[in-house]
Amino acid sequence: MKDANFLKENNARHLWHPMAHPADSIANPPDIIVGGNGVEITDVDGHRTVDAVGGLWNVNLGYSCEPVKRAIADQLERLPYYSIFRGTSNDQVIELSYLLKDFFAPDGLSRAFFTSGGSDSVEVSLRLARQYHKLRGETGRVKYLSLKKGYHGTHTLGASVNGNANFRTQYEPLMPGCYHIPAPYTYRNPFNETDPERLAQLCLAALEDEIQFQGASTIAAFIMEPILGAGGVIPPHRSLMPGVREICSRHGILLIADEVITAFGRTGAWSGSRLWGVQPDLLSCAKAITNGYFPFGAVMISDAVAEVFERDAGALGSIGSGYTYSGHPVGAAAAIACLEETRRLQVKDNAAERGSQLFSGLEALKQKYPLVGDVRGGHGLMCAMELVADRETKAPIDKKTIGAVHRKAYENGAMMRVSGNNIILSPPLVITASQIETILSALDAGLSAAA
Ligand SMILES: Cc1ncc(COP(=O)(O)O)c(C=O)c1O
Repeated sequence: MKDANFLKENNARHLWHPMAHPADSIANPPDIIVGGNGVEITDVDGHRTVDAVGGLWNVNLGYSCEPVKRAIADQLERLPYYSIFRGTSNDQVIELSYLLKDFFAPDGLSRAFFTSGGSDSVEVSLRLARQYHKLRGETGRVKYLSLKKGYHGTHTLGASVNGNANFRTQYEPLMPGCYHIPAPYTYRNPFNETDPERLAQLCLAALEDEIQFQGASTIAAFIMEPILGAGGVIPPHRSLMPGVREICSRHGILLIADEVITAFGRTGAWSGSRLWGVQPDLLSCAKAITNGYFPFGAVMISDAVAEVFERDAGALGSIGSGYTYSGHPVGAAAAIACLEETRRLQVKDNAAERGSQLFSGLEALKQKYPLVGDVRGGHGLMCAMELVADRETKAPIDKKTIGAVHRKAYENGAMMRVSGNNIILSPPLVITASQIETILSALDAGLSAAA
């Protein structure tokens, strides 16, 4: 490793950071992380903090997961790469597809299509949805519906169904045929409705209305996160996703669950769909599938959708999507080990318990600091705190103040993520009760410095 002086001097000078302004990265160079152990990270100055971000919602098992590390190292020795495009496969990907079929059986999903990450998984799910309808002769079903505030990665199709202008405006025009439904966001919504159940009903009515307006026979799929994550952690009322399922089924529209964050235990259930008792037609996943140690993703496909492709006797069912790294043997080996560890540790249970602890701690901080406008969570280890300049007007807090909260919290032992006026918390699922307390006390210090 180059020394600290070299790293600091060259920090952000020769690379552009995702989701950052290059000029801002030069003016305010990022923290340089050089080590990870358990659920803690260490920066170039030797400062150690609990990682309340969990990498980027992906390091569910922490930074010291030996079985995954070993699986990667061993597979690199045996077979570091081979493609699974038509005509070849590898032992690891076959075993992984078998394990995933079992893991997702309660979600009604039995086939896997492998990708290199979350945006790819979203892209492939959306493409497969159109192809499914074409195969069935409903060639006019090409549009997509999604939720405002949703995040579905940054490929152009994913960005087109995204519900946040930050990821859209600079890249317009996006794909035509994508329409958005109000989010189940009780703190701010066009209906001024604060009751989660009533708001869910209003969102469902808006969905019905949009389907009537567009014409069901023009719509391929509805894509949603079971709990909206990057958009500021928005857990819907439990009636929302079952309601969406019912509406989609009634209109012949496929339901895609974007579970890039929620699959593998983060919500306290093994999948977000299972949390709400829903079986989607397609499910996109990535991130925690390899504990973040190798870029990898998958689209899981239901029996009913798979059957339409598999019984096609012509060429139409052939999948015209795929990536050089689809089914990468090293990624597949990592995923096999990761799934085994995920199950052995039953991480969903700790996510549920520690998630409740984190959520009630955040609620207590809301009582203490008027700049906390809203606290969201209550389903596993995904929580957010929305900061406002004024509780009455709900005017978002300025960038400088939330930046100061973040900095002070970091100095006091916890790395957090700032997104707009939200502080987002998504620590590894193996976190302990005392490490949750560290996050809360660091956040307390941050808020008190800004109050
Ligand atoms: C729900 C959801 N979908 C898709 C993506 C995109 O995944 P990736 O960044 O791996 O491309 C993300 C990333 O955070 C996500 O949260």
